[in-house]
Amino acid sequence: MRIIITGASSGLGEALALHYAREKNDLVLIARREKKLQKVAEECLALGATVEIIIADVNDFTLMNSIGERLASEKVDRIILNAGVSVGHSGGVTPFDDFHRLFQTNFLSLHALLEPIIPKLIEQKSGEIVFISSLASLLSMPTSIAYSSSKRALNAYAEGLRYQLKPYGVDVMTILPGFIDSEMTQKNNFTMPFFLSTEQGVKRITNAIAKKKHFYPFPLRFYLMIRFIQLLPHPLRDKIIYFTNFKKGS
Ligand SMILES: NC(=O)c1ccc[n+]([C@@H]2O[C@H](COP(=O)([O-])OP(=O)(O)OC[C@H]3O[C@@H](n4cnc5c(N)ncnc54)[C@H](OP(=O)(O)O)[C@@H]3O)[C@@H](O)[C@H]2O)c1
Repeated sequence: MRIIITGASSGLGEALALHYAREKNDLVLIARREKKLQKVAEECLALGATVEIIIADVNDFTLMNSIGERLASEKVDRIILNAGVSVGHSGGVTPFDDFHRLFQTNFLSLHALLEPIIPKLIEQKSGEIVFISSLASLLSMPTSIAYSSSKRALNAYAEGLRYQLKPYGVDVMTILPGFIDSEMTQKNNFTMPFFLSTEQGVKRITNAIAKKKHFYPFPLRFYLMIRFIQLLPHPLRDKIIYFTNFKKGS
């Protein structure tokens, strides 16, 4: 199986690459940090996969588009859009630069890469597109407005694309993790509810992909808590938000 993974140099992307390497797949790994990506590639090769690495910044949209074109010259079985950044949870007015960077990396880069790949999947009448969103896309906290907004934009994009590609036998999946151990969460200085190890997180993600879950929020208890809060009348909802740990830093 030919599997493309963005953001494969650390965290979830790295663990996903190693998981699919064990199944001896044909991997294409994309990220900016060459040494780290090279190390992941070597581990994947040792596990029996074939590996191509692409050192690229997903924010270079022209480059992403040309990489997409090249990748679409061969069969694409699965593409996992995992590269993403957060700017940490901070108080005060969100700087415009944070919005700009997060929307570029977490949202706009997706279509820059996918634009040339989508016609290939349609032509193949098969393939899977997997988006790594976040539970944070469902509930926007005052301390991470830009991150939540960028991931909610991703959800909307993925939803439309799923309807568009379903008739062609192409599966579009949106995975919404809670807090998982990675370089991203190691920067957080607050208590992260329902925190999972990287292994636990990746096991759930790969199971969901194997079952072709089109919308997979986890951990379930965290998701249900968010759904419950969303059902409450606004005054009550506000009280709960302000009494959670998320208020730290605001
Ligand atoms: N960990 C969590 O709790 C959690 C929860 C919900 C959602 N997520 C999502 O999961 C995804 C993976 O994050 P992670 O937790 O594994 O964090 P991570 O360890 O920081 O990994 C982020 C990956 O994205 C890549 N990346 C970031 N900016 C990039 C750019 N401009 N161009 C190319 N690659 C870029 C990084 O590679 P380079 O720096 O080498 O480029 C790295 O491989 C993200 O989309 C994140 O939003 C994570």
